[in-house]
Amino acid sequence: MNVWLFGYGSLIWRPDFEFLDRRQARVHGWQRRFWQGSHDHRGVPHRPGRVVTLVPESAGHCDGMAYLLDSEVAHRTFEALDYREKNGYEQVEVCIEFSPSEQVDGIVYIAPTDNHAFLGPAALDDMAAQIRICEGPSGKNSDYLFDLAAALRTLDAHDAHVFELETSVRMISMNGSGEESAR
Ligand code: SIN
Repeated sequence: MNVWLFGYGSLIWRPDFEFLDRRQARVHGWQRRFWQGSHDHRGVPHRPGRVVTLVPESAGHCDGMAYLLDSEVAHRTFEALDYREKNGYEQVEVCIEFSPSEQVDGIVYIAPTDNHAFLGPAALDDMAAQIRICEGPSGKNSDYLFDLAAALRTLDAHDAHVFELETSVRMISMNGSGEESAR
């Protein structure tokens, strides 16, 4: 059977796998948060960056992109994604909504709150300062945030948490005070 995969972070703008179809989608009962530590992509072990995960919020929702994977190649795609998302993420089954009258079952990668790399919430300015200075093998943590914000704008999807962080990182960069406050 073909499988739907929901992406809400880097999988929105950098799906490095084959897919049969791609559709904007929403999951309910979850919200996107920059609460997951990244030691392997946007940070390093002694200075982890912050990337997104989904945390439960009964009244919340998260907009992203759903990809339809061909049954013939889905196992290889998931093997590669298990490696890409290895720092604390696991596959979770979700209901993916294309519209209120069209929903499908699918898979999403979520880093649960009890994973070893989970950082959890912090003050907006502190998260922004951390994102501004961190960098890892996949690039700057700030580019991950800016690329996500740009991708959400392309989808016309509003996410106050992401857009407020983006504004805060840009402000700190203009004022040049991020490094000091992140130490
Ligand atoms: C996702 O994009 O769905 C998972 C989190 C990430 O890789 O940024």
